[in-house]
Amino acid sequence: MRVVILENAQRVGRWAAEYIGQLVRQKPTVVLGLATGGTPVLCYQRLIAMHREEGLSFRRVRTFNLDEYVGLPADDSNSYRSFMRQQLFDHIDIPASSTHVPDGLATDVTEHCRHYEQQIQDVGGIDLQLLGIGSDGHIAFNEPGSSLASRTRLKALAARTLQDNARFFGSLDRVPRLAITMGVGTILEARQCLLLATGENKASAVRDAIEGPLTSQITASALQLHPQATLVLDEAAAARLEQADYYREAEALQAGC
Ligand code: PGA
Repeated sequence: MRVVILENAQRVGRWAAEYIGQLVRQKPTVVLGLATGGTPVLCYQRLIAMHREEGLSFRRVRTFNLDEYVGLPADDSNSYRSFMRQQLFDHIDIPASSTHVPDGLATDVTEHCRHYEQQIQDVGGIDLQLLGIGSDGHIAFNEPGSSLASRTRLKALAARTLQDNARFFGSLDRVPRLAITMGVGTILEARQCLLLATGENKASAVRDAIEGPLTSQITASALQLHPQATLVLDEAAAARLEQADYYREAEALQAGC
C-alpha cells in the first residue's frame, strides 16, 4: 500500500483531485468508482474548479457510486444520488446517463444488485475506486463482519455508522437502517483504489486498516490485498500510525521515480 501523509484536509482533497484529473486526461473514457460522505467533498470541489478553469472534461467518463440508502427516492435531499448531483455531477459536463448510483427504491433488491455488478462488468470494470473510511473501519457500507469476498448487496448499518451519519439527517432516528452497497470483493476488483481519510476520529480505523491484521472486522484492511491501493491521509488521521515516519520517507525517496 502507498501511504501519503499530507498537512491537512485541503491538501488531501487537492491531491486526490489532481490524481483523478490526471487519470481523466490520460483516459477520457475512464470508469470512476465514487464515494459520498464528508471526506471527498474537497476533492469534488477541486475537480469542479479544474473543469471550469482548466477545461477538464468528464463528457466520456462513466461513474459508479459505492452505495445508497434503502427507502430514499433518488430526489430525496439525503439520498446519495442527490449528494452526488449537488457536490459534483450538476457542476461538470458528465451526462446523467453515464452516472450510476444504486436505486434505494429497488423492489427486487437482489436482482438490482446483480444488475449493478453486471453494469460494472459491461463497461470493462472500474479503473479507479475512490473510498472513504468509516470510524468503524468500513469501506462503502461494508460494516464489521462483512465478508471480504462480498458483492453488491443489502446491508444493515452498524450503530456507529448510524451515529456518524445522523449529522446529515438532523437526528439519529431519521437515518435509514439499510443500504445497498458494493461488496468488499467488488471494490477489490477495481484496478486502483484511492482511500482518503481526514480528521482525528479516523485515526484508529486508519491504523487498524494499514497496520492491523487483515480482518472482516475492519473491512478497509482488505486493501492490504490490493496491488494498487493508495491511502491519502491528513496529519490527524495519520496520528496513530506506528510507521508514519517510514511512509513519509518512502514517499520522499520514491518521488520522481
Ligand atoms: P465520511 O464517511 O467521509 O462522512 O467521514 C466516510 C465513510 O463512512 O466511508
